[in-house]
Amino acid sequence: MRRAMLLLSVTLAVPSLAMSRYADAADPTATSAIKSHLPLRAPAEFAAIADPRDRAIALFEEAGKVIQSPRCINCHPASDTPTQTDAMRTHRPQVQRGVAGMGAPGMPCQTCHHDTNFDPAHVPGHAGWHLAPRSMAWAGRSLGEICVQIKDPARNGGRDLTTLVRHMSEDELVGWAWSPGADRTPAPGTQQQFGELLKAWVQFGATCPPVSSEKGVPRG
Ligand code: HEC
Ligand code: HEC
Repeated sequence: MRRAMLLLSVTLAVPSLAMSRYADAADPTATSAIKSHLPLRAPAEFAAIADPRDRAIALFEEAGKVIQSPRCINCHPASDTPTQTDAMRTHRPQVQRGVAGMGAPGMPCQTCHHDTNFDPAHVPGHAGWHLAPRSMAWAGRSLGEICVQIKDPARNGGRDLTTLVRHMSEDELVGWAWSPGADRTPAPGTQQQFGELLKAWVQFGATCPPVSSEKGVPRG
């Protein structure tokens, strides 16, 4: 409501700017609401762990701060509907994945999600915005379970470890999670730091955390 009021006053003051791409700059709430990145530890900080298996697990657990962040989980739900916001609540409206995750024919994701974030309307965006397939559902799974699953070419889109790590460190849709717009909390660290942790994880044997050791992010 406060955002709406301020946006309204900006609209009245500078009508030519309010709906343009400069609207963010004119809206004082847009910058004040930006949340800072939580830090990620660097691979070198795990050097004291002598056992390579333990070291790989610790590295993956650090990378898990990104993997289990709302920015990734919201698009990797356990159902046919995405979740949204930092609270990972059911997407409103309750859209369906449809064919290939692009949404139902009458309401594809692109109806609302465009090529870039549109902060005045609080809608995130990126070219190719669509839902991760059912086999890549992460919501409600422990980090150990997600780890086993993303290593499995039968469920991860036929990727080996190299292409899996490349996808996470370079894919631009994954990269959206670090510039999510509006007041969403960005994924921790940077995509590059995330990639470095995963490369080190592979280098030390890509061992997964034990499946029973911790709980999954509950919702979705
Ligand atoms: C009718 C408009 C509309 C359609 C269609 C739509 N979305 Fe959304 N979506 C939104 C809005 C608005 C938000 C922002 C909600 C908020 O943060 O308050 C959102 C947020 C999201 C988020 C949350 C991002 C985050 O991390 O907070 C995801 C994920 C998402 N949508 C996926 C999809 C997918 C996938 C589709 C197609 C299957 C889709 N949406 C279709 C309007 C829509
Ligand atoms: C807008 C939705 C969306 C967001 C946000 C998103 N993903 Fe995905 N993700 C997808 C889709 C769609 C696929 C399937 C496409 C493919 O396989 O190339 C996918 C596939 C993947 C895969 C392939 C392997 C597997 O088993 O899942 C990985 C790894 C992955 N995403 C990581 C991430 C990470 C890490 C984040 C957050 C930093 C993230 N994704 C955020 C939609 C999303």
